[in-house]
Amino acid sequence: MARVQLNEVSRVWNSAGIRTVGLKPLSLDIADGEFIVLLGPSGCGKTTTMRIVAGLEESSAGEVWIGDRCVNSLEPKDRDVAMVFQSYGLYPNMTVRENIAFPLKIRGTPRADIEPAVARAAAMVELNDLLDRKPKALSGGQRQRVALARAIVRKPAVFLMDEPLSNLDAKLRVSMRSHIKHLHHTLKTTTIYVTHDQIEAMTLADRVVVMSKAEIQQIGTPQQIYNDPANTFVASFVGSPAMNLIEGELLAGVFRCNGIEIAGFDAVRDGRVLLGVRPEDVAVQAAATRDVDSQRYVLVNADVFTCELTGDATLVVCDVRGQRITAKADKNVRYEIGDKVGLGFSAIHSFLFDAVTQDRIRK
Ligand SMILES: Nc1ncnc2c1ncn2[C@@H]1O[C@H](COP(=O)(O)OP(=O)(O)O)[C@@H](O)[C@H]1O
Ligand SMILES: [Mg+2]
Repeated sequence: MARVQLNEVSRVWNSAGIRTVGLKPLSLDIADGEFIVLLGPSGCGKTTTMRIVAGLEESSAGEVWIGDRCVNSLEPKDRDVAMVFQSYGLYPNMTVRENIAFPLKIRGTPRADIEPAVARAAAMVELNDLLDRKPKALSGGQRQRVALARAIVRKPAVFLMDEPLSNLDAKLRVSMRSHIKHLHHTLKTTTIYVTHDQIEAMTLADRVVVMSKAEIQQIGTPQQIYNDPANTFVASFVGSPAMNLIEGELLAGVFRCNGIEIAGFDAVRDGRVLLGVRPEDVAVQAAATRDVDSQRYVLVNADVFTCELTGDATLVVCDVRGQRITAKADKNVRYEIGDKVGLGFSAIHSFLFDAVTQDRIRK
């Protein structure tokens, strides 16, 4: 196990006169035993970061430390890391047992030690009954568990996992997610996990590193990322459905946009802002009952655009004078398209962002 540090690590490609910035200088300090998730959309630099840590990609500048060694000049095999990829990378002609044993075999582990080590790793991912099969006789989830067992058996200082669940169907993803979380609890190996899936990030991570456009947007616990987003990118990338963002004017502590008026932002300077409200913080009520008991709470009239039952909740998507606002309501709530409703929200359960910089404005 080991602490992992990235100090101002960057990557630029120059080919045919075109300069591509894959990664702007990035610094990250990962504690021994921590589960870190790099989260962001496709192309934001997650895999590049991971490959630089693994030694599969050279950084243009900066240092990578694993434990008390700067590993910049070390080959991937000497870095004591084990990678698990989206494409499982199993040897098709070997059985599950041989696949899992392979890293130990090439390391020259005595034969007598290999068998119990393989059995232990296989047990951790519930593969004991499949050891004599070839990969082609396994489901996607089982193949990915073989890849996990092959990583486990090496007892590396660091696990690197790049979208390991992306090839699996939704149900398997959820069950494999539990496997990985339980495994980390058991082994406590420092893990860097890459995904574009915010639910995976929120459920697995000790800390989430949200990335966009080749740089870090925010680092924090899942709670911090969700409850205290640093900018509109983080606010809208994490959370489903996405946070409502309403552009308007802030004047003397009052937010205004097309007749929507919310007071209670007294300490904030005037200017163009985006008001962010999570769908679960928007209340859907009957349009007629205007029951405003606090100056900080507003109720606006809206037309139902669509009403979608997701099973455990109902998403009521509304039009408020040309602005689309989504509310997450109880699963028993039901509206027809075109129904008149009232949407209630308050300054307390909202966020403010600078309309120009997109950065959070603290209330
Ligand atoms: N070998 C390469 N040459 C040029 N550009 C690359 C190379 N590898 C990756 N990139 C670019 O770097 C950026 C980050 O890629 P990547 O780290 O794979 O993103 P992610 O894993 O977040 O989807 C992308 O714009 C990608 O096109
Ligand atoms: Mg990638």
